[in-house]
Amino acid sequence: MEQSTSVLFVCLGNICRSPTAEAVFKQKAAAAGLDLVIDSAGTHGYHIGNPPDKRSQAAGIERGYSFKGLKCRRVEQEDFEKFDYILAMDNSNLSNLREMSSPQYHNKIKLFLEFANVDGANLQELEVPDPYYGGKRGFELVLDLIEQASDGLIAHIKAL
Ligand code: 4NP
Repeated sequence: MEQSTSVLFVCLGNICRSPTAEAVFKQKAAAAGLDLVIDSAGTHGYHIGNPPDKRSQAAGIERGYSFKGLKCRRVEQEDFEKFDYILAMDNSNLSNLREMSSPQYHNKIKLFLEFANVDGANLQELEVPDPYYGGKRGFELVLDLIEQASDGLIAHIKAL
């Protein structure tokens, strides 16, 4: 049997942006009938074992996404071998991932928002801004960007 395409979302803390991406993309992939391996992790280990940030959960749940069972973990070396797509939320995550990994894996590491325009959208942003120290609007923007990039990534994977 052919192995499922696998996607790892990565941010700094794995409590705001990447778990949101995991929750949104899991739901959208299931709705699109795609059977994928989907996970998230952080480049740094400030919150290992914790559930996603309450503000991220509140904003996501309001839009119908589930954060059940998600727990913060750090990126591990095996992730670079295991996942087909390793998608960073911002340029700092991207450069950290490249520094952590052997060059043979660098082609898997991309900015998530590179996929935002695959299905015809016209998004200018390439980074999902860190909402941790800001207000509620930051969490809504995270969701807006992630929903758009998830739709694009689904279109991309469907076309493979
Ligand atoms: P995230 O947000 O990278 O989207 O999960 C952050 C979470 C925690 C911290 C920074 C960003 N922190 O400094 O603890």
